[in-house]
Amino acid sequence: MYRTNAMICTCTNCISNGSLQVKEALEAEILKQGLQEEVQVVPTGASGLCVRGPILMVQPEGIFYQLLKKEDVAYLVKEHFLKGRPVKSLMYYPPGEETPIPKMMDIPFFKDQRLIALRNRGVIDPEKIEEYIARGGYMALSKALTSMTPEEVIQEIKASGLRGRGGAGFPTGLKWELCRKAEGEPKYVICNADEGDPGAFMDRSIIEADPHSILEGMAIGAYAIGACEGYVYVRIEYPLAMERMKKAVEQAKEYGLLGSDIFGTGFNFEVKIFRGAGAFVCGEETSLIASIEGKAPEPRMKPPYPIQSGLWGKPTNINNVETWANIPVIINWGAKPFSQMGTETSKGTKVFSLAGKINNAGLVEVPMGITLRKMIYEIGGGIPNGKRFKAVQTGGPSGGCIPESLLDLPVDYEELAKAGSIMGSGGMIVMDENTCMIDVAKYFLTFLDGESCGRCSSCREGISAMLEIVTNITEGRGREEDIDFLQELGAVVKDVSLCGLGQTASNPVLSTIRYFRDEYLAHIREKRCPAGVCKELIRYSIDPERCSGCLACVKACPTEAIVGEKEEPQSINQDKCIKCGACLEACKFEAVIVK
Ligand SMILES: Cc1cc2nc3c(=O)[nH]c(=O)nc-3n(C[C@H](O)[C@H](O)[C@H](O)COP(=O)(O)O)c2cc1C
Ligand code: SF4
Ligand code: SF4
Ligand code: FES
Repeated sequence: MYRTNAMICTCTNCISNGSLQVKEALEAEILKQGLQEEVQVVPTGASGLCVRGPILMVQPEGIFYQLLKKEDVAYLVKEHFLKGRPVKSLMYYPPGEETPIPKMMDIPFFKDQRLIALRNRGVIDPEKIEEYIARGGYMALSKALTSMTPEEVIQEIKASGLRGRGGAGFPTGLKWELCRKAEGEPKYVICNADEGDPGAFMDRSIIEADPHSILEGMAIGAYAIGACEGYVYVRIEYPLAMERMKKAVEQAKEYGLLGSDIFGTGFNFEVKIFRGAGAFVCGEETSLIASIEGKAPEPRMKPPYPIQSGLWGKPTNINNVETWANIPVIINWGAKPFSQMGTETSKGTKVFSLAGKINNAGLVEVPMGITLRKMIYEIGGGIPNGKRFKAVQTGGPSGGCIPESLLDLPVDYEELAKAGSIMGSGGMIVMDENTCMIDVAKYFLTFLDGESCGRCSSCREGISAMLEIVTNITEGRGREEDIDFLQELGAVVKDVSLCGLGQTASNPVLSTIRYFRDEYLAHIREKRCPAGVCKELIRYSIDPERCSGCLACVKACPTEAIVGEKEEPQSINQDKCIKCGACLEACKFEAVIVK
């Protein structure tokens, strides 16, 4: 029994910020101080405030340390673990404040979260099944197998109101029921862990922090549906998630929680792990199934749906990582407490990855129906550097941009759709006043243009055409009639394309026209980019009144375009300026002007 647990995050973000070196240093220092019988170092999954990583949480007190470096460790161990004096300088300071918040649960980022899918994040070692079991893991599977019929399990999931978290929001219990009733044997279950949205890491974090929650959900689903084989399809770029999932499968097998005759009930269930084929469209369910079958990962026409004819032509139930991770909790709690959370049509919680121009970038799980304002300002800590909020893009690359006037929108499937966006899998990119919305539309169209599998001409040609027009607008060649044409073309691509990629690809363009038409018009009529982003439409200059001649911009400029004497106002040679913005970043006197 240890007096203290030092829970260090060893998920991808924190590892890339040096958490493994911090862990090594911690172990060495604890040994050096002779504390190895009292303090245990536990590698965990992400706590969620990834922007502040590497993160260390000290239990049982719940003290939260952030932005740790291995050089901090000797002092931290001596002060906190040896002398019992928590180290203030390594704690979390809210932006602009001088007093730290020592305890994790007092930090606004964590306070309003409600953890279901992420229930074990940061509190267990994801590579030890015993720790999952100690937190009630596999109890739901035992309950389902030993005291519920498959139909009762399906009924419970239906009553909970759980909808698929992978994007489309299809009711999970209904999908299971349709799959159970579908003709054909054997049946399969699949976990979709392809997560191709740029910047999204919800599913990766769930697997890295708590892989057994997914396996347990899948085993329950397999029992309900009548499947005895499952696949986890993991995005190729997620090696750590893949490794943790593999370990989890091996351990569950050793414990008899996967394999034959689970809990002596005669129920058999095996899980195989499959590496993704590396394209965004692989996450589309029919494409994913083709990929497992060894075919080119291209979407096909539906119907038949996978529940009718999926893997190897057999009924297949495919759910997202987060959907599966919710299942054990619903079975343990019963449907009611889950269905009491959220809105009329969207129950439970949702995991979002908060990214972009936001102070507390990271992973959050909140009840459905929370307002965007609360997400961005209370949990997310607002916009950095006192800048103004401009828009938030929800739903991944084919989501829409929602403006400031809709900040009080409750986040659920229907409300987001009404606003011209989608829930998607939970990506949320916050943009500040310095973001050009036409440039944003161009960015997502560029991504989707590269990822369209090219089968449908509407998607292949339509996205390219929209991209060309939007590019023209950002480069000063836009015409006023382009706006109407983009709207018409966007509607056609939406209606005619075969899979969700094409069907949603117009959202970034349509939503930015809907809410930021003035910005399109400024680019087209005045050849001006109000946010100062579109290079062809802007010009950098230096205000001689404000310039102190400190030469910081001169050093920053990669093309030696800034000239002038020291301590005299500088000027920019427009022929040499490549509009990289380095001078703007470097100047502390706000002397660089972008027009
Ligand atoms: C282009 C495209 C990419 C998709 N990528 C994913 C993905 O990475 N993960 C995911 O769970 N669903 C993804 N989906 C949705 C899946 O097709 C499917 O609806 C989902 O896996 C079903 O699980 P759910 O009911 O639990 O949401 C994608 C859909 C499209 C059209
Ligand atoms: S909509 Fe696009 S990505 Fe989807 S099948 Fe058609 S061409 Fe491929
Ligand atoms: S960094 Fe700003 S103040 Fe300094 S020389 Fe450049 S423009 Fe002038
Ligand atoms: S990866 Fe460590 S807190 Fe997110």
